Amino acid sequence: MTKLLVTGALGHIGSRFVRQLEPAVFEAVSLLDNLSTQRYGSLFDLPTGTGFRFFEEDVCTANLDDYLDGVDVVVHLAAITDAESSVSIPEATERTNFGGTERVARACARSGSRLIFLSTTSVYGPQGGMVDEGSGPDVLRPQSPYAESKLRAERLLQEIGETQGLRFVICRFGTIFGTSPGMRFHTAINKFVWQACTGKPLTIWRTAVDQMRPYLDLGDAVAALNFILREQLFDGQVYNVLTLNATIGQIVGTISSYLPDVAVEYVDSPIMNQLSYEVSNRRFMELGFEFKGDLDCGIRETVQLLAGLGAMEELSS
Ligand SMILES: NC(=O)c1ccc[n+]([C@@H]2O[C@H](COP(=O)([O-])OP(=O)(O)OC[C@H]3O[C@@H](n4cnc5c(N)ncnc54)[C@H](O)[C@@H]3O)[C@@H](O)[C@H]2O)c1
Repeated sequence: MTKLLVTGALGHIGSRFVRQLEPAVFEAVSLLDNLSTQRYGSLFDLPTGTGFRFFEEDVCTANLDDYLDGVDVVVHLAAITDAESSVSIPEATERTNFGGTERVARACARSGSRLIFLSTTSVYGPQGGMVDEGSGPDVLRPQSPYAESKLRAERLLQEIGETQGLRFVICRFGTIFGTSPGMRFHTAINKFVWQACTGKPLTIWRTAVDQMRPYLDLGDAVAALNFILREQLFDGQVYNVLTLNATIGQIVGTISSYLPDVAVEYVDSPIMNQLSYEVSNRRFMELGFEFKGDLDCGIRETVQLLAGLGAMEELSS
């Protein structure tokens, strides 16, 4: 039986993850979130029998030693997560994503808890080709304060692992698509589906139509976290976790197969760039993990969630 602490548990990923834990394995699951994104709904109708407890706390200020007492594994999801907006709040992003992670990691080292840290494939930045976890520090080109803070946090974990014996794993997740009770809509695929279902044009970065980017089905994301818990994969390695690489053109094509009248508007962004990149998920698959999600199902599921808005009356069941 395992005791788990999930930070940022009310968010897009956390709210689905905590509903798909194997109840027989976890005797207590603490959910910690500062409610900065107001996702109270993530706590509604939680499954019974898992021993959930919720703590309204900030990872930057909480007395983490109290919360980690007896905890076997911390799944650290709490972060400021909107990469584009992080350009205008670099200090806050650094304080939460780097500073908060440092506090969590040092507390884990003290308590002996193992740590799953969620980083992002955005640490690669524009590359012009396929990249994998072996790409050295000179190759990584984070394009936003968000991605920079995640990369710095990754490096810090390696250091705390070496100096204080922290047992951890780093997952570089691709951009999530798919639905959850605490869903958010500010990343590419979900945002486009939202725009399409609310009758707005899809705001596509001018440079992005043919660029490859890595995406992760939320079902695969949750399965990956459960796989790590089951396999006790706390080997201090970095793993790219993504379902597929796709172009914005492919995403728009899939959305318009459900919503044929969708329009596109080309916009500029402070973090857009000219280069495409694809990310390899081979290292994680070689452990025996199978990615099962796909773009069509994820988009269809999200479109169906918003069916009541009437934009998809022509969608056949
Ligand atoms: N969603 C993605 O596309 C994606 C991709 C790669 C990596 N990730 C990473 O996965 C993790 C979870 O992402 P998500 O999509 O669920 O994000 P989210 O924004 O939906 O959820 C983050 C949660 O953390 C909470 N939070 C923020 N600051 C906090 C703090 N200081 N203390 C306590 N709680 C705090 C928020 O209230 C929110 O509930 C993040 O670390 C994110 O960087 C997400």
